[in-house]
Amino acid sequence: MAKDKTIYVCNECGGTSPRWLGKCPACGAWNTLTESVAEGGGAAPKNRFAALAKTAEVMPLASIEARDVQRTPTGHEELDRVLGGGIVEGGVVLIGGDPGIGKSTLLLQALDSLQRAGQGTLYVTGEESGAQVALRARRLGIEGSQVQVLAEIQLEKILATLDAVKPAIAVIDSIQTVYSEQLTSAPGSVAQVRECAAHLTRAAKASGTAIVLVGHVTKEGALAGPRVLEHMVDTVLYFEGDTHSSFRLVRAIKNRFGAVNEIGVFAMTDKGLKGVSNPSAIFLSQHAQPVPGSCVMVTLEGTRPLLVELQALVDSGGPSPRRLSVGLERDRLAMLLAVLHRHAGVACMDQDVFVNAVGGVRISEPAADLAVMLAITSSLRGRALPKGFIAFGEVGLAGEVRPAPRGQERLKEAAKLGFSVAIVPKANAPKGGARAFEGLKIVAVERIEEALAALR
Ligand code: TYD
Ligand code: MG
Repeated sequence: MAKDKTIYVCNECGGTSPRWLGKCPACGAWNTLTESVAEGGGAAPKNRFAALAKTAEVMPLASIEARDVQRTPTGHEELDRVLGGGIVEGGVVLIGGDPGIGKSTLLLQALDSLQRAGQGTLYVTGEESGAQVALRARRLGIEGSQVQVLAEIQLEKILATLDAVKPAIAVIDSIQTVYSEQLTSAPGSVAQVRECAAHLTRAAKASGTAIVLVGHVTKEGALAGPRVLEHMVDTVLYFEGDTHSSFRLVRAIKNRFGAVNEIGVFAMTDKGLKGVSNPSAIFLSQHAQPVPGSCVMVTLEGTRPLLVELQALVDSGGPSPRRLSVGLERDRLAMLLAVLHRHAGVACMDQDVFVNAVGGVRISEPAADLAVMLAITSSLRGRALPKGFIAFGEVGLAGEVRPAPRGQERLKEAAKLGFSVAIVPKANAPKGGARAFEGLKIVAVERIEEALAALR
């Protein structure tokens, strides 16, 4: 028998290479290639995706009837928000996150509510035994639940059960534990994860069962990351937030049935995850007195404004000072430091600079620039920003302050929460003038130098 060919597969993107390399040639990620066995050459059946692509007649777009997708609410408002209204028949959702962040908890709670609402449910667990799931259900206070549980990791058996039980929604916890006998590679390898997910997706589309795949995000790459599945599924949700705080964010990264970047906010309690319907103030740390290095910004995640405190610490560094950021992009930080130096004369070259978004929230929008720069300058000078102060706005390389989308909504939220001074880009200044919002004084700026005047 011919010796199996060894290939190296990237855990991030699934790209392959005949040799081990430090950097994946396909996606450029570092240290993600792991040894694997090339799957059976020409032996794999060629029509694996036949059922996915049923031949249909060609017809003009105008004569195809548009149909709104039917959504079934899960009964958890925050989860429904990120799903775009609820579970869609035949839809496949990938939900990723660090181990222990609450994926199994949230999904078991959702299945229980759906079951109570009369939907057929199936919870396939490959990580825990039925007894462990029952224990979790007891903690969650849903021990009388009628959710069907299957402790199984073999794909063929799971598919057969799906076919027999025909649930409205099935959860596979987790996709990395599932393996198919058709493949020789180990469970959790890219080939297994991708193949199993493809089969489950096909089953979902053919039967109308909505399937939720749970995927662990691993840093070390021992298991294939959920990223290899992102293109295959309809909706991708990721858990954010640090496991030490009680708040958890679920963000929609991709959604064929709804808006992306929508976030759901949950609090982890001793009875599982509870939705936080008014999360705007949870990412603020409570200082009795204003402290240097802290600036609050209003970010718009999906449809809701959130107030987030950004913190900076500038401290004298060694010969090669460090720049570290948690929850914000590091490259952007380097750029903002350069702009601060060049246009506002704030020099941090010989300083360590650390920035952090409070509560483990991740901020990707450039509207955070102004607040980051104010926090850095405030820390460097050891001078606190005034009490009740907020700022938002993008800062360009020329030192200009650019508007943030939907500025009025952000200002309205800040005013509602009792903030008293706002530094905003000129284009975001309300028509009603500096006092357009009750109790909130608005200072419109065009350049970073003007904004820093708030610190004098
Ligand atoms: P879990 O859902 O098992 O995480 P994942 O499936 O993403 O790996 O969550 C486990 C964590 O949640 C664990 O650290 C304990 C905590 N937890 C609570 O705080 N309250 C609860 O009611 C439950 C069930 C879990
Ligand atoms: Mg789990």
